[in-house]
Amino acid sequence: MQGKVTVPDIRSRKGGAPIVALTAYDYPFARLVDEAGVDLMLVGDSLGMVIQGLHTTLPVTLEEIVYHCRMVARGCQRALLVADLPFGSYQVSARAALSSAARLLKEGGAEAVKLEGGTHMARTIRALAEVDIPVMGHIGLTPQSVHRMGGHKVQGRRPGEQDRLVEDALAVEEAGAFAVVLEGIPRELAADITRKLSIPTIGIGAGPECDGQILVLHDVLGLTEGRSPKFAKRYADLHGIVSAALRSYVEEVRGGLFPTEDHSFHMLVGVPRERAVSGAS
Ligand code: KIV
Repeated sequence: MQGKVTVPDIRSRKGGAPIVALTAYDYPFARLVDEAGVDLMLVGDSLGMVIQGLHTTLPVTLEEIVYHCRMVARGCQRALLVADLPFGSYQVSARAALSSAARLLKEGGAEAVKLEGGTHMARTIRALAEVDIPVMGHIGLTPQSVHRMGGHKVQGRRPGEQDRLVEDALAVEEAGAFAVVLEGIPRELAADITRKLSIPTIGIGAGPECDGQILVLHDVLGLTEGRSPKFAKRYADLHGIVSAALRSYVEEVRGGLFPTEDHSFHMLVGVPRERAVSGAS
């Protein structure tokens, strides 16, 4: 796909070439993600954990998503830009969801929104879709339900849970979502849901049979502390690279090795003071 990726483009990728999605939270990384050819960029509320150092996504505010989305929008030229509706910004009523989603589009520059929940969120998804706000659903391990789930735990493993998740997926599709994220569910269940839906499924910890894959940028780049989740693959060790670079800086300044002549300015002789100052480069 060459030009700007749109909602209908993502919708039409059902069963075709896998959709590649990643999160982004600021301008420089949004540019890199876009230039790599990613199809869909998500300003996820995972920023609470990977940017703000929180243990859950619950404290993330709408203001914060708008703020990060604005930065990402400047670097996102080609990918479809989707922003998360954070906890508390849409659950109260469809009206609240409309006003929160409108802010993400108007102020953040998002082209679509994502919200968590299945059957119980169908009315809200419909209300947004009816006023042409494209919605991406998110079911399975929904981090905003961390307390109900008793932690960030794989869902749909126990008998009986599978039927509920299939119902959730169908309800999200029927309500008008253009795609749905399947997070932290068994591969076989994700494959079954992918077969049953006519909209694309985008998996994270849901196996390779989904119509696309999404990961958290910091997991992919090895910027998260400690072990990565089982479902994530580290394609680089930026933590190690950045850490080594910063230690070298500290050592060189302490050891008098930086700055050198190469990083220094000199006074201009015989030039009036004002010109010497304005000519610094
Ligand atoms: O917040 C987020 O980054 C997400 C993705 C992991 C799907 O919801």
